[in-house]
Amino acid sequence: MKKVLVTGILGQDGSSMANYLLNDSEENVRVYGMMRRLSTPNFVNTKSFSDHKNFELVCGDLADEVSINNLVRDIQPDYFVNFGANSFVGCSWDMPVQVFDVNTLGVIRCLEAIRKHAPACKFYSAGSSEEMGDIDYSPQDLNHPIKPRSPYSASKAAARHIVKVYRESYDMFAVHGILFNHEGIRRGEEFVTRKITKGVAKIFHQIRLAKEPTPIELGNVNALRDWSDADDFVVGVWLMLNQEHPKDYILSSNESHSIKEFVTKAFKFAGFSGEWLEDEGDALSTRFVIHHQNEILLALKVNPKYYRPAEVAELCGDSNPAREELGWSPKTSFDQLVEKMVHWDIEKAEHTT
Ligand code: NAP
Ligand code: GDD
Repeated sequence: MKKVLVTGILGQDGSSMANYLLNDSEENVRVYGMMRRLSTPNFVNTKSFSDHKNFELVCGDLADEVSINNLVRDIQPDYFVNFGANSFVGCSWDMPVQVFDVNTLGVIRCLEAIRKHAPACKFYSAGSSEEMGDIDYSPQDLNHPIKPRSPYSASKAAARHIVKVYRESYDMFAVHGILFNHEGIRRGEEFVTRKITKGVAKIFHQIRLAKEPTPIELGNVNALRDWSDADDFVVGVWLMLNQEHPKDYILSSNESHSIKEFVTKAFKFAGFSGEWLEDEGDALSTRFVIHHQNEILLALKVNPKYYRPAEVAELCGDSNPAREELGWSPKTSFDQLVEKMVHWDIEKAEHTT
């Protein structure tokens, strides 16, 4: 039985990968899910597999080389899937040193542990479309220049270089997948898609209970992103790890949508029609209102506190090489993703509004 060490097990991708390997795929594997020490850990994402006989929770921290070394030495994994990171772009200006420690030095700690203790282990590094930054052209492919716009994206770009260095210097199977935005019901609440769908669900129940709705507050609503379903992407990551020779790939939907479009669709799937309004020459007055029983209700407004010091305005990927060479393709459309997240959050919020 193959052994798979997955970091970031409580997060979106780590838990989705473990769920895929243990519940949804034909793989016969043992998954070791690494979490860091937290005073009050949140196990909501691991519920679907935490009791599986082939799952084991292990403790470690990407900032601590002793724990990474010991885990690789003791487990002797066949695969090391490194989803652990400080993954929130927005806070990376506030803690750039910690971001580099975990996202870049953390990757070196993993590579060194593998090199010393389990050199045949295959390594996945979680690269990001954010590395493209202020883009030169669309869609972005692997030849697009690396132009980071945040400490987060610079940390991932550095990780990309070091993975290539280890692969070429030590003949290691190490890949750095460039994944465009992927979301779903395991998504953290601070990311814009989940913030929107949770906000829509709250408004849905407030209106149902004849309460005044709490408007969602966002920053730059003009950004464009290439959004997919995380459950589709972990399949692509697994295919990347099981190709014959290590090669980096992009995973993306190859479509770009605006945040405004995501918001409009999210309210539509909750049963509301609405419109965007803006007072002439005043971008800060941008708002979304919904129509309900002859009333016009404020559902979303802009709050500049969510603006970033530098923004990635637009992302749209070209994942055709992964589709053609790995046989991968995303199954969930943009509309299906929005609908799934909204309906899930409406159901979950029913008893908490
Ligand atoms: P996530 O939900 O934020 O999960 C990240 C996980 O990393 C969390 O479980 C977190 O632990 C863990 N972590 C943070 N610091 C750590 C440390 N020092 N040691 C060990 N673990 C640590 O992010 P995600 O969406 O699953 O993303 C997974 C990976 O893909 C990340 O590397 C991210 O940068 C990258 N990525 C994501 C996307 C996307 O759209 N989702 C796109 C491209 C790349 P806690 O649970 O304790 O906080
Ligand atoms: N989070 C957030 N909150 N973003 C907002 C808000 C808000 O209130 N208002 C507007 N946005 C805009 C951001 O400025 C950004 O342009 C866009 O929404 C998406 O933001 P996030 O959902 O935070 O994701 P991200 O694109 O910055 O980063 C995600 O995708 C990357 C891949 O492109 C993360 O998952 C990264 O870890 C990942 O590498």
